[in-house]
Amino acid sequence: MSKSILITGGAGFIGCHVVQLFVTKYPEYKIVNLDALTYAGNLENLKSVEEASNYCFEKADIQDADALDVVFTKHHITDVIHLAAESHVDRSITDPLAFVKTNVFGTVNLLNAAKKAWAGELEKHLFYHVSTDEVYGSLHDGGFFTETTPYDPQSPYSASKAASDHFVRAYANTYKMKTVVSNCSNNYGPNHFPEKLIPLCINNIKNMRPLPVYGKGENVRDWLFVKDHARAIDTVFHKGKPGETYNIGGFNEWKNIDIVRLLCKKMDEKLGREPGTSEKLITFVQDRAGHDLRYAIDAAKIQKELGWEPSLQFDEGIDITIDWYLANEEWLNHVTSGSYQDYYSEHYTNR
Ligand code: NAD
Ligand code: TYD
Repeated sequence: MSKSILITGGAGFIGCHVVQLFVTKYPEYKIVNLDALTYAGNLENLKSVEEASNYCFEKADIQDADALDVVFTKHHITDVIHLAAESHVDRSITDPLAFVKTNVFGTVNLLNAAKKAWAGELEKHLFYHVSTDEVYGSLHDGGFFTETTPYDPQSPYSASKAASDHFVRAYANTYKMKTVVSNCSNNYGPNHFPEKLIPLCINNIKNMRPLPVYGKGENVRDWLFVKDHARAIDTVFHKGKPGETYNIGGFNEWKNIDIVRLLCKKMDEKLGREPGTSEKLITFVQDRAGHDLRYAIDAAKIQKELGWEPSLQFDEGIDITIDWYLANEEWLNHVTSGSYQDYYSEHYTNR
């Protein structure tokens, strides 16, 4: 095998699409998926590749340094694509320490494991850190986040991701590790855990449950189809310049309320309901604490320098996404049973 790539968080939403892309596109690479299988990790996401001869799964926590050493040695890891993280802003508001543990401590642990395994030949190996545009803070007066926008994280989640980005760059500077960082806008698509806005609304519309819109629904997010993010990660991994940062986004800004209305309209059509039926479920609820107003990515650098572009229009991507959830009822039932019910009632009852 020409490369043995450790992908962390490969059982999660974005990770599973990255794993699938790499396993099928690069049969000459060995793909090792390391994941702790938290509430957000699900091996059902990987059914299409689990029998592939160039794929294997290691259940481990990135906080466990010994386990990481074993995996690096056993699989002769040549490169890392790091996605494992606690990823939900609302959970970071109730339990910030969990985010420090995985996103900060876990990332530094992984950097240490890579540095140890690659000692004496750091220039031959790449540590690719996958991050978010939320590290740049909130836009209030127009404009876009570029790669030189100063960091200004506003939530415990984005603060933990910002810290992890800084550690990756510090390891590049201090130990001369070969690293690259990308910061992407909000993703949507199949396999998205239904705690995030789009899959939560799809699931609730399907079940005729209230659609909780925070505040007035005026906050703006910039949405990218998850498979386009996976393609961008492939591009940055193979063509990105070491030491650089690439912003990834689709120039696709939407107010939350407009997305919720779009989902209602499309699902009424798909489910054969009277027009306007699902909109009646919209319920304005107490705003998120410290809610960032707007995120918007300027993705010109990756487009110009590396030739990546999003492939899907939002309308098409949303159709694919809704159709996937309607066709994968079993997946949805599995992930919304058990602890999801507790999370949902703690977070949304009497909000
Ligand atoms: P996710 O929550 O769906 O998946 C995270 C995965 O990491 C899960 O499989 C989980 O089991 C695993 N994990 C969590 N803690 C772990 C630990 N301590 N050790 C090992 N594995 C652990 O997240 P996602 O949406 O797929 O995001 C993946 C990465 O992309 C994250 O780093 C996130 O910050 C970043 N990102 C996400 C978005 C987005 O819109 N979802 C946008 C930009 C960047
Ligand atoms: P989310 O999907 O959690 O992503 P992020 O906070 O990382 O951008 O939220 C997207 C937007 O939707 C954000 O402005 C918060 C809002 N939101 C709601 O209005 N209701 C909800 O139930 C959720 C989960 C999010």
